[in-house]
Amino acid sequence: MAFTTTVLSWGVLLYADAYNETNELENAREAIKWATDYFIKCHVSKFEYYGQVGEGRIDHVFWRSPPRNERRRAFKLTRSAPGSEVIAETAAAMAAASMVFSQVNASYSQELLSHARDLYEFADTYREMYHRSIRDAGNFYRSYAGYNDELTWAAAWLYSATNEN
Ligand SMILES: *[C@@H]1O[C@H](CO)[C@@H](O)[C@H](O)[C@H]1NC(C)=O
Ligand SMILES: *[C@@H]1O[C@H](CO)[C@@H](O)[C@H](O)[C@H]1NC(C)=O
Repeated sequence: MAFTTTVLSWGVLLYADAYNETNELENAREAIKWATDYFIKCHVSKFEYYGQVGEGRIDHVFWRSPPRNERRRAFKLTRSAPGSEVIAETAAAMAAASMVFSQVNASYSQELLSHARDLYEFADTYREMYHRSIRDAGNFYRSYAGYNDELTWAAAWLYSATNEN
């Protein structure tokens, strides 16, 4: 979800004129904001981020929308149970989206950037593969390659948004 949001934001930044000419700029911003509003809700404090809602086996067994399942356990990443892939990937999304909103909603843009900074610090300071903290994720979306690519991706987007080394 965070990767998709980053790529959608990247497209808007690169092809703003094309989105505008086809009258899709507003729709694109709305789609991005739907995701970033969700990420804001998941990021309940500086070092607490809900990285998964629902359980793989339960959600995959029934042919219906996961929110209709009775059990919707939420898994939170913390300092003692961190998860750098998910948190850094979300930091990248927040930084990219902050650039999308910089001209249209300065306060929202700043809010996103502030989450991006905190999430990056969280992911970088408390480094751990996320499926070790959210064990259920290991059955479906295990991190095989580790978190260095996500940390780098987040750092690049933060640099893009702030110009800070
Ligand atoms: C979108 O296009 C219109 C007219 O084609 C132009 O007036 C407007 O400034 C453009 N907006 C953006 C955000 O590029
Ligand atoms: C900016 O974003 C905030 C947060 O979503 C929203 O409450 C506010 O109405 C937005 N302002 C404008 C001008 O769109």
